Amino acid sequence: METCVKEHNAEAVLSEQFGYAARVKEIVTNKYNHQLLAYVHTFGCQQNVSDSERLKGLSELMGYGFTEKLEEADLVLYNTCAVREHAEDRVFGNVGILKALKKEKPDMLICVCGCMAQQPRIAEKIKKSYPYVDILFGTQVRYRFAEFVYKKLVFGKRIFENAECEHEVYEGIPLKRDGTFKAWLPIMEGCNNFCSYCIVPYVRGREHSRTPEAVINEAKMLLSSGAKEIMLLGQNVNSYGLGNSSMNFAELLREINALEGDFRIRFMTSHPKDCSEELLIAMSECEKVEKHLHLPVQCGSNRILKLMNRRYTKEQYLKLIKKAKELMPDITFTSDIIVGFPGETEEDFNETMSLIEEVRYHSLFTFIFSKRPGTPAAEMEDNELKEDKSRRFASLLKKQEEISREMNPSFIGKRVKLLIEEQGENGEIIGRSLENLVVHIKGSRQDIGNFVLAEITEFDGVLHGVKI
Ligand code: SAH
Ligand code: SF4
Ligand code: F3S
Repeated sequence: METCVKEHNAEAVLSEQFGYAARVKEIVTNKYNHQLLAYVHTFGCQQNVSDSERLKGLSELMGYGFTEKLEEADLVLYNTCAVREHAEDRVFGNVGILKALKKEKPDMLICVCGCMAQQPRIAEKIKKSYPYVDILFGTQVRYRFAEFVYKKLVFGKRIFENAECEHEVYEGIPLKRDGTFKAWLPIMEGCNNFCSYCIVPYVRGREHSRTPEAVINEAKMLLSSGAKEIMLLGQNVNSYGLGNSSMNFAELLREINALEGDFRIRFMTSHPKDCSEELLIAMSECEKVEKHLHLPVQCGSNRILKLMNRRYTKEQYLKLIKKAKELMPDITFTSDIIVGFPGETEEDFNETMSLIEEVRYHSLFTFIFSKRPGTPAAEMEDNELKEDKSRRFASLLKKQEEISREMNPSFIGKRVKLLIEEQGENGEIIGRSLENLVVHIKGSRQDIGNFVLAEITEFDGVLHGVKI
């Protein structure tokens, strides 16, 4: 695979890109006498959502407005996810639909970027089987979006760029947020962990942390533009700063917590092997930091954890949970679990079931193992029957439902500070507490984006409360 030149000056690269954006704006303004519109659709995780905010920022610089309607679009941008086969199938389905649209509107630019586009086998497939895709670019050359659009418009040739680039430019790219009170703040990029089932390290490159100054300045900017919740993002936020920063994640949390204003700090994702006691102490002492930990365990069997290359044992994981509970008695936990990893036996699966009973997660994100070509797990022998995996998956869901049903009534009587997120039904609004509990209370649209104190009064499948 092609690799970018080592030495480069980020400022010069960015100003060159802004030059391309200005030229695109000139071209499209001269050619069309109406505002061109971009349709940007994001698949995958919050990191991708956050990347799309920067891609939208670049689109705006190129003179594009935005539309939610595909048929109105002059530029379609799909920011894709490769984490499971199903995610890739969805993208191919969506790209397939564009064929007819492109026939009707030949000037429409179709762009595919993100984690799928980073993989050579996918780039090849799109090149061959989807001739109407004009531009494809990977995660590490994202900042060159305007250049690609310019070159396509001027030279007409299709563009396929997914080089691995050590010098991804991040700082200084304009941000186009959706203007809500919730803000994403990426603090690091990439992943060094190489869990054996996971494609992310291959499509996102090595870990790289932004400087504390860049993160804190962006947090200030977000707060001054009305953010009430800042979600710190990274594939593994716990390893923030390792190797290239003066601050670790616990210290960074304290710095952001000390910023002025009434706001909340959330973060994801945490890797158990890097989740330190120092971090748990910082969480417990910072009043703006959520009392909720998304700590993906993946599996409860030490044998499988080892095959997954997770680098912790069930016992070490449970010790962390215990410590967190000691420091923060109100804390809630969520997790990711993979069922049906190659070679997982009934015994291994039972270990997962016993672990979830012991931890008592508030909710779980559950997945059936999906073979990702190029990862070590894709080469492991997998003789388990699909039916067995599906059966295990269903019993895991059932068990978790039971746990949630048992847990929720214990929150009745609890006083919580809710950040109101959306309107519910029957005159209710829905908010989230510091402990990540979702509570429905009576209220109006005007409360959306505000903090409201409430007492939890009832559980009927969802939690209800009253304002206090
Ligand atoms: N960096 C994060 C998130 C990675 S992707 C973390 O480490 O937790 C989100 C989740 O997708 C993972 O936690 C894992 O549970 C799931 N996942 C990743 N690769 C998968 C695969 N090949 N098959 C099934 N689930 C997978
Ligand atoms: Fe994937 Fe593991 Fe990295 Fe998470 S920590 S992104 S699961 S390799
Ligand atoms: Fe998917 Fe890439 Fe995120 S593979 S989960 S969009 S890092």
